[in-house]
Amino acid sequence: MTSNKKASLKLVIKKGINLTEQELSQIKKDILREFKIAFNMDDQAKEKLFFLLKQENAILAMGSLWEVKPVIFNGENFSIYGVLNVIANIKGKGYGKRIVTSMIKYLVFHNKTAFGFCMPQNSGFYEKCGFTIDTVSTKRFVYTKGKERITNQDGQVIFYQDASDHFMEKVLAFPDRKVSIPTASLW
Ligand SMILES: CC(C)(COP(=O)(O)OP(=O)(O)OC[C@H]1O[C@@H](n2cnc3c(N)ncnc32)[C@H](O)[C@@H]1OP(=O)(O)O)[C@@H](O)C(=O)NCCC(=O)NCCS
Repeated sequence: MTSNKKASLKLVIKKGINLTEQELSQIKKDILREFKIAFNMDDQAKEKLFFLLKQENAILAMGSLWEVKPVIFNGENFSIYGVLNVIANIKGKGYGKRIVTSMIKYLVFHNKTAFGFCMPQNSGFYEKCGFTIDTVSTKRFVYTKGKERITNQDGQVIFYQDASDHFMEKVLAFPDRKVSIPTASLW
C-alpha cells in the first residue's frame, strides 16, 4: 500500500455498552457539536445499537437505533426502533446516507418498524435514504409523565419505515387518536 492511499471505510454495528473509549469520546464531541446536548453512557445509551462509518479510528458518520416499547396505539402494543443520533461529520459525501441505508437494511432484515423525528429541513435527506415522511402526526405522539402530557414542540416531522406490524399505516388510518410513547427521548 502506498503511503497516500486512503484507508477503506468500514461500517461497524455495536451496542453502546461495547463502544471503545475512543469511539465514545468522539461520539460525545460530535453530539455536543451538532445537537448541543451532553451524551452520557446511561442505561438507554448502553442498549442503543450504534452504526458507525469508520475510516481507521475516525468516525465519519453515525446513527443509532433504540428499541422503544411499549408504544401503544388503539389498544395495541408495539415494539419499535427509534432512529437517533444521525450525524455526518463530513457532510455532503454520502456518509450520512450510508449510515441510514444500513439501518434500513437492518430493519428490513429484522422485520422491525422504525421512526424518528427531524426538523423539516432534514426530511429530504431521510426521504432520499428510503424513509417515508409524515408531516402532520408529530403532536399525536404523547409521553405521559404523571399528570403531564409531553409532545414535541419544535416543529419536527416524522420519518418512518413500517414492518409487518403496519404501525404507521394504522396510526395514519385513525388521525384522531393519540400514540402513547414510553419516553420523551425520541426527539
Ligand atoms: C443530515 C445529515 C446527517 C446528512 O448527512 P450527509 O452525509 O451530509 O448527507 P449525504 O451526503 O449522505 O446525502 C444523501 C442524499 O441526501 C441529500 N441531502 C442531504 N441533506 C439533505 C437535506 N437537508 N435536505 C434534502 N436532501 C438532503 C443529498 O443531496 C444526497 O442526495 P443524493 O443521494 O441524491 O445524492 C448531515 O447534514 C448532518 O450531520 N447534519 C447535522 C446533524 C443533524 O441534523 N442530523 C439529523 C438529525 S434528525
